[in-house]
Amino acid sequence: MSLAALRNTLRRSALNTSARAARPVFRQGAVRRLTTETPTPKKSNNNLLYGGIGAAVIGGVAFYVYTSNSDTAKEAGTAVRSGAQVAKVAANFVPTKEDYQKVYNRIAEVIDSAEGYDDGSYGPVILRLAWHSSGTYDKETKTGGSNYATMRFEPEAAHGANAGLNVARDLMEKVKQEFPWISYGDLWTLGGVAAVQEMAGPKVPWRPGRIDGFAAQATPDGRLPDASQGSDHLRNIFYRMGFNDQEIVALSGAHALGRCHHNRSGFDGPWTFSPTTVTNDYYKLLFDEKWVWKKWSGPKQLEDKKTQSLMMLPTDYVLTQDKSFKKWAKAYAADQDLFFKDFSAVVARLFELGVPTAQFTTSEPWIMANADE
Ligand code: HEM
Repeated sequence: MSLAALRNTLRRSALNTSARAARPVFRQGAVRRLTTETPTPKKSNNNLLYGGIGAAVIGGVAFYVYTSNSDTAKEAGTAVRSGAQVAKVAANFVPTKEDYQKVYNRIAEVIDSAEGYDDGSYGPVILRLAWHSSGTYDKETKTGGSNYATMRFEPEAAHGANAGLNVARDLMEKVKQEFPWISYGDLWTLGGVAAVQEMAGPKVPWRPGRIDGFAAQATPDGRLPDASQGSDHLRNIFYRMGFNDQEIVALSGAHALGRCHHNRSGFDGPWTFSPTTVTNDYYKLLFDEKWVWKKWSGPKQLEDKKTQSLMMLPTDYVLTQDKSFKKWAKAYAADQDLFFKDFSAVVARLFELGVPTAQFTTSEPWIMANADE
């Protein structure tokens, strides 16, 4: 057993014991302290001449996004940092897989530095950032997706669905300062990969090539799923991204991880007893536990009748009600290996939504090593 696997097993058994023994094991106070609002960027009146080159020149292919009229001071800041990218490029710096592995390793350290935060890992919120930056894709208009990392900008950062993701963006910003040559889209999706792998999940194939975009490319509100709705809504949202029923169910298994925060989404609580380890417990619990509507003043959510310490969103519960979803949820409940295989494939696809194939620097995605490999 690898060190990571051992660490996760220990963490999991500790959580299992304590979560089952008493209800209030989940630390909520620390979350509130760490949650800060994203500052509103000041409007810039200057026609900044930073050039705004959010460009990556990798593998012999050049992509330039040029503006002489940056929209916001934040964009200008990005342009300055992208200047460092350009400087590296000018010095013939072409990042290799090893360079990206260094970024991965640094993210893995950040994920593990969450003493006192939630359940002791930043992995879940970092994975959610990667998903929300990718899940805005619209296959008809070919807009949204992970390419431009537009959640850096106020219109998208302020969308209700992204509440609390400033925690993850701030953590990733520290990594960006250390590795200024990486684009935000690559950084955030690599963060998602590291989160899955470091929380004992499957390998997620990944490759670089995303470029930094501008506020004008931010997506309209309403592209991400609304947890209070049903199967029609789930299909509308995920079919728009190009996913099918099986993939919707496989993606939902990410809710083995993390928790809902009342001050972010209005919902409250974790889905599983091991919220920092990737497992198929989400599906098992959906079928093995009796779920009842929680009696409270918050939005409609379910709680497990036995311990009242776990939750399911209406969109989670629908996986047990809709015939086509149920078939896959049952299959994943019965077979963790199958879930890992399908989850890895669908998350890899999710993170590439909206990125033109020609932008990728390798034809075959890479398998990044875990931090302790
Ligand atoms: C199926 C539709 C989905 C809905 C309606 C949904 C909704 C939500 C909501 C309401 C939260 C709580 C946010 C908070 O209060 O902090 C949440 C958390 C989370 N979601 Fe989803 N989600 C969906 C799909 C996904 C997918 C596809 C992924 C990843 C592949 C994902 C990963 C996560 C993670 C890891 C968390 C925990 C975040 C944390 O602990 O801070 N979700 N989701």
